Amino acid sequence: MNIPFNKPYFSSNSIKYIEQVIYSGKTGGDGKFTNKCKKLLERTLIAKNVIMTTSCTHALELAIQLINLQDMDEVIMPSYTFPSTANSVLLNGGKVVFTEINKDDLCINANKIEEKITNKTKAIVVVHYGGNACDMDKIMNVANKYNLYVIEDVAQGFLSTYKERQLGTIGHFGCLSFHETKNVSAGEGGAIIINSNNEELVKRAKYIRQKGTNRIDFELGNVDYYQWVDVGSSYCPSEILMAYLYSQLENIEDIHIQRRKIFNNYVRIFRDINSDKITFYSKGNKFGDFNAHIFYIIFKDQIYSKAFIERLKNKGIAVYTHLIPLHLSEMGLSIGYNKSDFPYEQFLYKRLIRLPIYYDITDEELDKIEEAIRETIH
Ligand SMILES: Cc1ncc(COP(=O)(O)O)c(C=O)c1O
Repeated sequence: MNIPFNKPYFSSNSIKYIEQVIYSGKTGGDGKFTNKCKKLLERTLIAKNVIMTTSCTHALELAIQLINLQDMDEVIMPSYTFPSTANSVLLNGGKVVFTEINKDDLCINANKIEEKITNKTKAIVVVHYGGNACDMDKIMNVANKYNLYVIEDVAQGFLSTYKERQLGTIGHFGCLSFHETKNVSAGEGGAIIINSNNEELVKRAKYIRQKGTNRIDFELGNVDYYQWVDVGSSYCPSEILMAYLYSQLENIEDIHIQRRKIFNNYVRIFRDINSDKITFYSKGNKFGDFNAHIFYIIFKDQIYSKAFIERLKNKGIAVYTHLIPLHLSEMGLSIGYNKSDFPYEQFLYKRLIRLPIYYDITDEELDKIEEAIRETIH
């Protein structure tokens, strides 16, 4: 019995909905299922404007484009994130400024942001790591003090909350991922949440998403033809993907109950083992509801994490490390960072291990994982 790290959720409605799209002949973007996903997300997240996109990467690019970076304006973000967070800034002519994370929840250290602010700072991108919420009150206070935009990278945080508010609805923009590896997926997909009543801004997002054209006005019957009106790209997902996503969004409650059950089982095991080889294991989102996206353990030494991966691999169980901090990566070094800049992040990346969580993991599989963990860590 091999146990993968992740298996995308399967809903039997997915085939039915995809068939409906194919037979309807409307397989491009912005049809019935795109609208159903948008409405469901707006209702669930209590969000003003959700616009479906082809990925979180594209939602981030769209958000950064909307804030009009100029002349190497600076954007602060943690080094401990996925490359898309930083690419969005570089693609728009900005400068990436890395900062530290907290040692436990691995979210941006809100107390360290202010010292990175200069007169070129335009925005802060916060990353809700593994479903843990960043300290949004502190972050919004700093942002308001210096008049900065806040973009929430919610790729891993869909349906976790911060003090009863859904992640992605607190900053100026929220960017969601529905990649195959996420709790709910379209294969590839995402959404941008625009937390503003500014209709011009929302309209501009729609233009950018539709190749810089006002196609949306044409489809609403407001203009006779559509034309090139802005610098844009193609961020509008196919109806086929949105049909597949909708079949999953219908079951989000059930998916999250099941994921939290698996997560809590890991917490029980590691609390019980109480090993001095481990410096920290995740316990959930300290600020609110938790989507149980990732369960991670941080080993004291690389020797232990390496042995743990090997041991579980030999038993057919896939466990993974996670992000290579961006300041340590080839691109990070090429934009002027040094390996020694963020010692904790450097410590972390070979010592943090993620365990399997997926909806239809069986009790037998969980027992096998528990047995392997107990044999490996004492
Ligand atoms: C923090 C973070 N941001 C952005 C992304 C990119 O998401 P997508 O694959 O939907 O483009 C990921 C992907 O895992 C991520 O973890």
